[in-house]
Amino acid sequence: MNDTADLVGVLRAAGETTRLRLLALLADGEQSVKDLTEILGQSQPRVSRHLKLLADAGLVSRNAEGAWAYYGLAPEGAGGDLARWLISRLSPDDPDRLRDTKRLEAVRLAQAEQAAEYFAKVADSWDLLRSLHVPEEAVEAAIVKTLEGRAVDTLVDLGTGTGRMLELLAGHYRRGIGIDASREMIAVARAKLAATSIGHAQVRLGDISDLDGVALKADMIIVHQVLHYFDDPGRVLLQARRALKPGGEMLIVDFAPHGLEFLRSHHAHRRLGLSEAQMTAWARAADLAVADLQCFPPTNPTEGLTVCLWRLIDETDRSL
Ligand SMILES: C[S@@+](CC[C@H](N)C(=O)[O-])C[C@H]1O[C@@H](n2cnc3c(N)ncnc32)[C@H](O)[C@@H]1O
Repeated sequence: MNDTADLVGVLRAAGETTRLRLLALLADGEQSVKDLTEILGQSQPRVSRHLKLLADAGLVSRNAEGAWAYYGLAPEGAGGDLARWLISRLSPDDPDRLRDTKRLEAVRLAQAEQAAEYFAKVADSWDLLRSLHVPEEAVEAAIVKTLEGRAVDTLVDLGTGTGRMLELLAGHYRRGIGIDASREMIAVARAKLAATSIGHAQVRLGDISDLDGVALKADMIIVHQVLHYFDDPGRVLLQARRALKPGGEMLIVDFAPHGLEFLRSHHAHRRLGLSEAQMTAWARAADLAVADLQCFPPTNPTEGLTVCLWRLIDETDRSL
């Protein structure tokens, strides 16, 4: 319960055109101040001021990450509830909303193109690049251990890249499917699967942030070193969830929070690692629960990164 002054503060914060537009944009998932500035066409200090007001009133949450800050609708409390209610009352045909949604799509498309360009360039050398200063052996051993003694019918590898996970786990699934948005990565993966005679896995071109048209149902989904390329990993998890069979599991492998800003400027990363709290919240929003978390320190402590392996289970089936 809140007192009158608190609620008036929340209503004041929400009661302004730009701030309402910001709430509507954040209802589509977490966004960086940089992107919100571009979408709204206003100066960054102005957008930051509006976001600060919304955050102070508890309507949005702020998550600082290196030089960028990400905002999302507050997961709980009167502010978050009011924000969701207001957005549910906003007509999808509202001209501001239509224009902002279109710009948001354009910003996402430009980012996806930028990432695709990067992966097209590194496809041939990815297997070398992916192992730099990362405790790859330990992580791969832990992934294999998770599947030991189990028979997975359909395993889907989202953002499969060169198909390393399909190769590593080939002995543990009956049918494997890898999806990736980069033609170049898919070409390398296809050649590799053929060279290693893995005939029960296929790779396909596809966008994992939009799996609506993909008729897939997986017993296990693996998302290995992919989520940090998205502004809103929670959205990708929600999409992935739709491709999971009841009682299925997801294995997520990604960096722990870090401060290596150059990975954004030079390697197309968007998020500087994922925290335990973030993953728990994204999983919960997708009706999944974190069943297990293991983190592995870098092979070179002075410049490497910690990698974490999350096992997420279907919340609606706790028998696993
Ligand atoms: C860092 S690589 C990881 C590849 C592989 N999972 C591995 O660990 O070796 C990230 C992969 O995600 C893919 N990717 C990025 N955005 C994507 C999207 N929207 N849909 C599908 N794949 C995407 C890239 O093309 C790239 O191959």
